Amino acid sequence: MSETELDLEHRTGQIKVHGPEGFEGMRRAGRLAAECLDMLIPHVVPGVLTDRLDTLAREFILDHGALPACLGYRGYTKTLCISPNHIVCHGIPGERVLREGDITNIDVTVVVDGWHGDTSRMFGVGEVAPRAKRLIDVTYEAMERGLAAVKPGARTGDIGHAIQTYVESMRCSVVRDFCGHGLGKVFHDAPNILHFGHRGEGDLLKPGMFFTIEPMVNLGKHPVKLLSDGWTAVTRDKSLSSQCEHSVAVTEDGVEVFTGSPVGLFKPPVASA
Ligand code: MF3
Ligand code: CO
Ligand code: CO
Repeated sequence: MSETELDLEHRTGQIKVHGPEGFEGMRRAGRLAAECLDMLIPHVVPGVLTDRLDTLAREFILDHGALPACLGYRGYTKTLCISPNHIVCHGIPGERVLREGDITNIDVTVVVDGWHGDTSRMFGVGEVAPRAKRLIDVTYEAMERGLAAVKPGARTGDIGHAIQTYVESMRCSVVRDFCGHGLGKVFHDAPNILHFGHRGEGDLLKPGMFFTIEPMVNLGKHPVKLLSDGWTAVTRDKSLSSQCEHSVAVTEDGVEVFTGSPVGLFKPPVASA
């Protein structure tokens, strides 16, 4: 979601603070979203059509009594976003075939009893180049550093600062044009979670706030451009891009991750040549 688009959505700008019922709802939604990505792992192989992965995900979600949040969202017509190689985010599944050596993000959002579970991971297609694997490792570590900054009394800028300083220390760059977002019964809500910034700035975190952390990390420079389909964002310098995303809560003493894989596959193994 771009910040300008976020501003167009119906929201009060107030950051909601949720109680036990919200936590229960988000645990169920987050778990199903993670299970959907777990289900896709064996299907992400050389030669697979991205539309086939989309169909598998849609059927999985509907079979579990949930709804795909992206389908019909602002005119989007698919369940997943599939963003290979230099696609930064919001790649549209279709006739594209994944090839040996590709790396790809797959992003899914499910709605369970009104609650949104939003998560994405990186997948290697067959064996990938060592520099692609390194980019993926940097992206997951960046998110871990962001998660570690979440606690009551911290600010959203602390999250962005932790992510940016780590990513730049690894000589990669953080995408500026898309951010994490509050979520719950609303898909994209306040606050914006920028993946760059300054310690002590931004919104104050309180127990019961729900949001995503979803850093996009480029091997090259950070600028992106939007393709003419109105969705697909790519790196301007055509460098590889990587992303991962969790939906989380601020708790009394830190963070709860709603979208962890129940079988420990949030970071699917990537084979490097
Ligand atoms: N899941 C994406 C996010 O992390 C949103 C995708 S919106 C879509 O916020 F319409 F492109 F699917
Ligand atoms: Co999101
Ligand atoms: Co997402």
